[in-house]
Amino acid sequence: MHTSINDLFAGLWADYVAITPSAARIHELLQQHDNSNDIINDHIALRTFNVPGLAVADLAVHFTQLGYVQSGEYDFNSKKLNAWHFQHPNPTQPKVFISELRVDELSTDAQAIIQKMLANMDLAIVASDNFLYSGTHWQVSETDYRALLAESEYAAWLAAWGFRANHFTVSVNHLSSMHELTDVNALLKENGFVLNTSGGEIKGSPEVCLAQSSTMADSMPVAFSDATVAIPSCFYEFAQRYAMANGELYQGFVAASADKIFESTNVN
Ligand code: NI
Repeated sequence: MHTSINDLFAGLWADYVAITPSAARIHELLQQHDNSNDIINDHIALRTFNVPGLAVADLAVHFTQLGYVQSGEYDFNSKKLNAWHFQHPNPTQPKVFISELRVDELSTDAQAIIQKMLANMDLAIVASDNFLYSGTHWQVSETDYRALLAESEYAAWLAAWGFRANHFTVSVNHLSSMHELTDVNALLKENGFVLNTSGGEIKGSPEVCLAQSSTMADSMPVAFSDATVAIPSCFYEFAQRYAMANGELYQGFVAASADKIFESTNVN
């Protein structure tokens, strides 16, 4: 386990930008636009399987040990996912959204592929410092990847990319040069970045106290056991939070919006 939040997020970020070059370019673009190096990360998201030793609760220990507290709970029925978010008492620390695939609800064929992947994985590694950005701990063929993809984009992504940040998120509230998500989106499009339009370019609204947009994931090569193929890797998200009736900024997530954000790793 890491002893510092900064060290943990630095490890996650280095791994993430290595397979998400567009995020590094956008980060730099926003730094230039803001004339500041301080781009604040609203949250990251992690994906896992709901199997003993690898479930959300097992991954979350890396954060709860650093003072994070389990907060909102979410259910994505059509995608067969449970999710929770974790936040730190210090609101300037990034929130963490962790989802898990309900493997037991997949077809027996898909379950067999996942069981074969996990059969030789030593679960003791889950507690190691770098586990949350350690990628895959198995071999999977392109054929099995395609079989999972036909049933669950989430399962296929996790099989190909393993454990790492699925996305980082720019806090629009903390930008100095722009205060509206629509302006951020316009800047990104002017610079040639492709946004996820599933459910509209902006998910959510002031009424639900959270508006989000995201790029479509980059395409990067993965070495499957039988072929190396370029597939969607990770994406960058942008979040604008609004005050609740009590005047405090909403810190949770909106399930209907997150449901569409998941589709940022779909094949274009
Ligand atoms: Ni997100």
